[in-house]
Amino acid sequence: MTGRRDVVASLPLYKQGAMPTSADVVKLSSNENPYPPLPSVVSALTGALGAINLYPDMGAVRLRSALAQRYGVAPGNIAVGAGSVEVAQQIVHAVAGPGDEVVFAWRSFEAYPIITLIAGATPVAVPLTAGDRHDLDAMAAAITPATKLVFVCTPNNPTGTAPSAAEVEAFLTRVPADVLVVIDEAYVHFNRRPDAVSGMDLFRAHDNVIVLHTFSKAYGLAGLRVGYAVAPEPIADDLRRVSVPFAVTDLAQTAALASLDADRELSARVDRIVAERDRVTAGLAASGWPVGESQANFVWLRAGDDTARVDAALRDAGVLVRAWDGEGLRITIGTPEADDRVLSVLAGIREVIG
Ligand SMILES: Cc1ncc(COP(=O)(O)O)c(C=O)c1O
Repeated sequence: MTGRRDVVASLPLYKQGAMPTSADVVKLSSNENPYPPLPSVVSALTGALGAINLYPDMGAVRLRSALAQRYGVAPGNIAVGAGSVEVAQQIVHAVAGPGDEVVFAWRSFEAYPIITLIAGATPVAVPLTAGDRHDLDAMAAAITPATKLVFVCTPNNPTGTAPSAAEVEAFLTRVPADVLVVIDEAYVHFNRRPDAVSGMDLFRAHDNVIVLHTFSKAYGLAGLRVGYAVAPEPIADDLRRVSVPFAVTDLAQTAALASLDADRELSARVDRIVAERDRVTAGLAASGWPVGESQANFVWLRAGDDTARVDAALRDAGVLVRAWDGEGLRITIGTPEADDRVLSVLAGIREVIG
């Protein structure tokens, strides 16, 4: 068809987790928080509804200064977007174009190759290790004079693995100073590794580090779309330059601010999700499934050739998960009832497979 650009027509479509078709179906396919919004957040949102005839504050001044205060940085270091995926896209647009390379692990967050291609840059996907971890040695070796950006996703989506601080520090010594490294911490609140890397520690120690955070996961605001980067000021300025004007609504900013004030309640919920993750991991291992140690709000089941069969059985039982044929399934941690359904289906299949 005339008018289409080949480069766009050949882009892979971002695939959303399957959507439920009835009330009895449980959606564990998008790494959402299973808890409803906190009453304090709902009440702040209700108060803000009367102003939706107005454009939001494009500078997100209150939100950026609250975040800056929390991390001990300047508001100028914070750039916001409609979800951290939009911020990731701003980053790629700001620093990479045709002829430039963007390095990331694979399999990892599936938006990385898509946003790289949209910017006209070249994705360089570095396979995970046999243990589904970032191969940081291979990622360092993949950096060329054309590399502008590296994404390190920790904990990694979809495998749940997380590198240690020492591993990422060692990696950074091998990254040239003019190559930016994004530490994508969408699932950081669920990480219980005692020696886990902290994006903010890296940001304070290195001039080429950007930290990417979201309100979608631990804070449970996936439906409102708000995320942010903590970046060196000139980069944060550039992120604002390439951002979609007014993309972060007033409702999203209001809910994010109210959520920052509700840390104690939200971290109690995160603790419950982590405990539930450990219960699901132990249950799957007990029925003989090769399940990795996840530091996120999902588990990764290396079902290999059995993936399609497991996916179909879960679907028949009214559970939607994310499956990659021939590789495995990513199962988001849900309510205990939803997780019991998963455990019982998977124990049943295991008995059949033997
Ligand atoms: C690793 C990672 N980064 C970023 C995102 C983007 O999330 P959001 O745009 O909702 O902030 C996701 C969403 O699943 C993710 O898995």
